[in-house]
Amino acid sequence: MNLTIAPSLLSSNLGEISAEIQRVQQAGCTWVHIDVMDGNFVPPLTFGPVVLQSFKKPQGVFFDVHLMVNRPECQIESFVKAGADSITIHAEAVTHLHRVIQQIKSHGIKAAVALNPATPFEVLKWVYHDLDMILLMSVNPGWGGQRFIPSIYDKIELLSNELESEDLPIPIQVDGGVNRGTIRKVVAAGATNLVAGSAVFGNACTVAEYEKNIQSLFREAQLGVADRGNII
Ligand code: DX5
Ligand code: ZN
Repeated sequence: MNLTIAPSLLSSNLGEISAEIQRVQQAGCTWVHIDVMDGNFVPPLTFGPVVLQSFKKPQGVFFDVHLMVNRPECQIESFVKAGADSITIHAEAVTHLHRVIQQIKSHGIKAAVALNPATPFEVLKWVYHDLDMILLMSVNPGWGGQRFIPSIYDKIELLSNELESEDLPIPIQVDGGVNRGTIRKVVAAGATNLVAGSAVFGNACTVAEYEKNIQSLFREAQLGVADRGNII
């Protein structure tokens, strides 16, 4: 099973983002998670496409752009031009979900949909076939450093079982409160793509420290893979 850890830049040193991207790459990650907030869908404001465009993307790094914005259909083209390799939109933020997924895919990049903790995954049933990834939020979006909402373990497992029974190999990404204490259960429940902000960047600032944090997340995640096998 391929596990991906996607460091969330929201918790990085925002004054030197390009250097931080390089550091997490040197520390062993190829995915970088970019949290875009519009001060409307969620209260905070973060990066727009103009700012994203200024981030240096080293060869081999994948920009995973998580749009926590209302009416994302108005922003997709700008984020593609700014370097997004994948765009995740919130099901709660669009009226015509199917159409916006097609809009993302028409640019030749990956399309994903995120669900807030209280949103049932059944809303995705008729678009499963169009998705490259499903993001289950394990905190209410808006801020890094929040606690994982425990009911989401069951949600991950139920979705994972549903995708398996439908023979749909869509990776499940989990975002919010993923750390050394939660990642094992998150992986055991069926997630393979783990966003981590404070667990990577908190109390750390060097490549060696990031590497240590990422390695310990990977070790715990691998235990989760083994747990999964045992359950089956
Ligand atoms: C929350 C963001 C997350 C956040 C994760 O709205 O989508 O990506 O940065 O941060 P941690 O890992 O600290 O919960
Ligand atoms: Zn995110």
